Amino acid sequence: MSVFQLTVRSVVREAEGVLGLLLADPAGADLPPWEPGAHLEVTLPSGAVRHYSLCGDPGDRGAYRLGVLREPAGRGGSEEVHASVGPGTVLGVRGPFNRFPLVPAERYLFVAGGIGITPLLPMVRSLPPGSWSLLYGGRSLASMAYREELAGLPGVTLVPQDTEGLLDLDAALGGLPPSTAVYCCGPEGLLRAVEERWEGPLHTERFGAAGSDGSEGSEGGFEVELRRSGRTVRVEPGRSLLDAVREVVPGVAYSCEEGWCGTCETKVLAGAPEHHDSVLGEEEKAAGASMMICVGRSRGPRLVLDL
Ligand code: FES
Repeated sequence: MSVFQLTVRSVVREAEGVLGLLLADPAGADLPPWEPGAHLEVTLPSGAVRHYSLCGDPGDRGAYRLGVLREPAGRGGSEEVHASVGPGTVLGVRGPFNRFPLVPAERYLFVAGGIGITPLLPMVRSLPPGSWSLLYGGRSLASMAYREELAGLPGVTLVPQDTEGLLDLDAALGGLPPSTAVYCCGPEGLLRAVEERWEGPLHTERFGAAGSDGSEGSEGGFEVELRRSGRTVRVEPGRSLLDAVREVVPGVAYSCEEGWCGTCETKVLAGAPEHHDSVLGEEEKAAGASMMICVGRSRGPRLVLDL
C-alpha cells in the first residue's frame, strides 16, 4: 500500500496531554474507507513513523480523526506531534489497516486504559445500545480523552485512578457470560491483567507494538552489530531497528512493519532484545534468541544480530 499525503485540518485539545488531529485530503477528495479498530501509519515531518488508531466516524469520508497522547518518556513521535504539528502540516499516511476488527458477538465488554480508548470509541458508537459496556480507566478525569462524548452513551463507566483507584477487573469480568467478546486496549499491565482473568474471546491491541509511542527502554538509542555483514550501525531514538538494518542490508525481509506477520524475524547473537511484537510467545520473548526487528529494540546499549 502506497503512502499518500494528508493535511492537518485542525488540532484540538481533547484532554490533558491529548491532542485531537483531523486529517484531510489537500484537494478535499474522499478518504479511503475504514472500520472501527483500524489505524493509520503516519510519517511525521521528521521522518519518524508512528501508528495511530482512527477514532472518528467511519461514515465521514472527509476526514480522519486521531488522538495523540504526549509521552515525554516515549521515543519522540508524540512530542513532535504536540510541539510542531498544526493546521496545514502535511503528513505521509499509509492505511487504514485493521488488525483489531470488531467481530460479531451478542455482547461486548470494552476495557480501555488511557489513550487506549481511541480504537474502542468508534467500536462502541457502531453497536446498538444495551449490547455493550465500556470500562475506561485513566490517571485523572482531566486526562481522559472523549469523556464528554462518552458521557452521552449508556453503559460507560469512567474510572479516574486518582479518585477511584484502578479498574475493578474481577468485578467487571467475573459475572460475564463466557461468550462475551472482550476488547481491551491500553498499557501492557492492563492487558496482562485482563488476559489473566478472562478465558472467553479476547481481542487486544497493545501499545509499544507497531512503533507506537508506548515503548520503554533504549530511549537514548543503541548500537546494533550485523555480524555477517561486519558492520555496526546506531539506532537513534525515533528510528526503527529495521530502518537502520536496511541501510546495511537493503534486501532484508519484512512486510507488515507492525510486529505481527513474522517476516522480519531475526536471530539474536548477543544482547537483550526488547520485544514489541505479537508473533513470539512469552517464553520465546524471555529466551531472546530471535526478534522482530520491525518493532523490536534493545534493552541494553548493544545488540548483535545474525545478518
Ligand atoms: Fe511483520 Fe516484522 S515485518 S513482523
